[in-house]
Parts: sequence; C-alpha cells; structure tokens
Amino acid sequence: MSHEKFHYKTLEELLEKCRELGISLPFAYDTSILATPLEISNIKLQNRLGIAPMEGADSTEDGRPSEYTEARYVREAEGGAGLIWYEAISIVEEGRSSKTQLLITEDNVDSFKRLNERVKEAGIRKNGFEPYLIMQSNHSGRYSNPDNKPAPLIAQRNKWLETFRAADDSCIVSDDYLKYIEEMTGKSALLAKEAGFDAVDIKSCHGYLFQEVASAYERKGEYGGSYENRTRLLKNSIKAAKAYESPSFSVVSRIGIYDGYPAYSRGFGQAEDGAMDLSEPKRLVKELHDELGLTFVDITMGNPYATTHIVRPFDMGKYVPDEHPLIGVARMIQGVKEIKESVPDMAVYASAPTYLRQYSDLYAAGAVAGNYADGFLFGRMAFADPDFPNEIIKEGRINPKRVCLTCGKCGDLIRAHKPTGCVIRYPETFLPFYREFMVEKKDLPENFRG
Ligand SMILES: Cc1cc2nc3c(=O)[nH]c(=O)nc-3n(C[C@H](O)[C@H](O)[C@H](O)COP(=O)(O)O)c2cc1C
Repeated sequence: MSHEKFHYKTLEELLEKCRELGISLPFAYDTSILATPLEISNIKLQNRLGIAPMEGADSTEDGRPSEYTEARYVREAEGGAGLIWYEAISIVEEGRSSKTQLLITEDNVDSFKRLNERVKEAGIRKNGFEPYLIMQSNHSGRYSNPDNKPAPLIAQRNKWLETFRAADDSCIVSDDYLKYIEEMTGKSALLAKEAGFDAVDIKSCHGYLFQEVASAYERKGEYGGSYENRTRLLKNSIKAAKAYESPSFSVVSRIGIYDGYPAYSRGFGQAEDGAMDLSEPKRLVKELHDELGLTFVDITMGNPYATTHIVRPFDMGKYVPDEHPLIGVARMIQGVKEIKESVPDMAVYASAPTYLRQYSDLYAAGAVAGNYADGFLFGRMAFADPDFPNEIIKEGRINPKRVCLTCGKCGDLIRAHKPTGCVIRYPETFLPFYREFMVEKKDLPENFRG
C-alpha cells in the first residue's frame, strides 16, 4: 500500500471523496465566522484562529528560548492569530524531550518574559492586538531524552509501545514522583505567570506522562487502576496551577481523548477491545468544568510516536496507515463535537485541520458555525504559512500556494532534535538541518516511529 496524494481540485471533489468513504465533514462557504472574537470567563480571544503547540527543538542547553524560538513566535504573532499556544515546555530537566526542548525554571524565567514581550509587541505593531499566549506545561514521560538519548519515565509497561521504543520496569515512576510532578506543575504555573503568559496549559495528551497515567489501568497504588486514580495526576496538577489564577492569568488544558492503540495495549478513551469509547474523556472534561472550574480546553487524539496518523493525518510519512487520512480528520472532529455537546458551556477548541490544505479554512469555519467547536488550532499549517490567519481574516481565504503539504519533514526534524520548521516553504532556514538529519538517520532502528 502507498500513500494517496491529496488531489482534490475543488471542494466538490473533496466532498465526493468523503461520500465514497462514508464520512461527513463540516464545511462552510464563507470564513467570516473565524474573524469573530470569543470571550469566556477571563479569556478574551480576538478571533477563532489559534496556532497549535509545536515543539521547535531550538532552545539553548539550559532551556532558554533561542533566536530561532523568538523568530518563530514573533512571526506567528505577526500572522494575526488570536491565540498562540506555545509548544511543550518542560517543567523538569529529566522530563525534557531533548537537550533543545524549552525548559522553564526560576533561573531562566526572565528570558521567557522578554520573548513574550517581543511577541506581544509584534502582534500590536502588525495587527493592533496582543495575541493570547498559553504556555504548555509538560513532562515527556516515556519520551524523555534529556541528553538526546532515550531515558523513559513511564506510568506502566506497554509492550506495544515498547516495540517502537524500549523501556523496562526500572523506568516506572513512583507515586511520590508523581506527587512531586503535581507540585512542579503548580510551580510551572507561577513561572508562566511571571513570564507574562496569559494562561498555562496542563497538558494531558499524546502519550506523554499525564496521558499515560490516564490509561494506567494495570498500575497499582494511588495513580493506577480506577478512573479516579488515573485522573488524579491531572486533577491535582490543575488544582495546584489554579492557586495562581488571577483576572489576567488562567489555567486551561489540552486533552487527548483517544490514543488509538491496539486492543491488548489499550490507551485512554478506549474500551478493552481497543474501540473508541469516549465515556471517560467526556466525564473527565465535564468534571474539569463543573468541579475544577476550567473554562477552556483543546481536544486532540493519538500519540505522535505510535499513532502519528491519528494526531496529524498525513499523506507522506514514515509509515502507511491502514486508513485514508480523511477518516482521521473525521474521527478528530466527531470526537471534538461529542465533547462540546457534553460541556456546551465550555470553550472547546479543535485540532488537526492541516491535512485539508486549501480547504482547511472552510472546514474550520464549518465546524465553528455548526457548533462542533469554538475555534481551531492549526499546527503544521503555521510552520508552512504563519500568515494564514490574516489571509483568512483579511482576504477571506487561505493562500493555496502557501499551504502545508503534510510531507512530515517537520516531524523528522523534531525527532532528530533539530530546529524545526517547514523545509519546503522555508528551505533557507531548515534545509541545512534536514540534510544533517538525512545523514544521521541511518543509525535509527528500522521500526523507529519518532
Ligand atoms: C513538529 C511538531 C511538533 C509538535 N509538538 C507538539 C507539542 O509540543 N505539543 C502538542 O500538544 N502537540 C504538538 N504537536 C501536535 C500539533 O499541535 C497538532 O496537534 C498536530 O500537528 C495536528 O494539527 P495539524 O493537522 O494542524 O498539523 C506537534 C506537531 C508537529 C508536527
């Protein structure tokens, strides 16, 4: 089997393919709804377009933003998005995904403050408003590589995940360690606030530590087994972060509602036979809203190291999934819709529109108009064309000549721990790093899904 290339010359052709596949995606013929503001509790967004968190692997060794980090976020602010959801920022050294993953500490918080000032200035200079800035607080868990070598910290063994990346019993973290991470998450909220972020995201998605605890069905002790135990880390961490909430600083969360693992290695949002079962994710989001007072979530799915096609449908990549990428897009938006329906008072953002390229704007508009979601985070599209929000808002449509081609090269760069961006649209910056990756990749194991 090989990847089917995206070849739809008109929206009608794309809709015809959807019919053939038996799926339905929301599309609008007008994008103006994406330019409307959104206000929920203390969160005020200028429009419905957001930049998804994407690790750039471009920090200094001590975790500070580098000139690449600054150039990227300033560029994104100039592009006109109402919301910039910064990439995963590690809260502890041992949970870093690489030596070049951003790490926030008391010693370097000043450099994040300077970065945010410049990003906000860029938004005002170019568009007359400050984008809303969210820091994604993260621990890479199974995918920790603080010295650019795997050093997994896991919630429980998972033989299937271990076919892609080795781990053993010695990697299982203790309950005391998880309590320490709750404290550190609280501290990261304080640091985010000091750094001038408008909110902190207590991230629980994509197979990292928090998401893995959510599916630690076999783990013993306070963080495994029952639903209450498996959601304890996230809830306690949100409570710890909420201690620092103020009228100008909020706590939000990016939640993975379905991992897409096979039956015998069941992930979150899955029944024992592996089928999608959103009863726990819905319960979780509802409790976060009703009991913990969370007003804003982004919904995502999958694990980029194991089920990449679920996180970000693609038609060029390291492996050929056994489903059409449009099925992945449909799964994501149906899941988002179900969550939105179960917590209608919460602002729910959707993920993963990029596969739809020149139709992604009509899709996002259709989903917001149809109340599937309140807004959208665009990921790979922002690397390819950081101006996509202004194109949509000011000209009514995204520029089809600048869209992301879902070639997967940004994903290769991140796994190679090299500054990450669009190799196709910005070759002068990223092609040299990609060439280095091509030379080094012969050393990776055959089935490595980084
Ligand atoms: C290079 C790369 C890095 C990413 N890093 C993060 C991250 O730091 N945090 C996160 O939650 N998601 C991360 N993602 C996932 C994106 O936020 C997004 O959910 C995914 O790309 C699907 O959106 P898209 O179809 O618009 O690209 C990353 C994706 C890519 C391609």
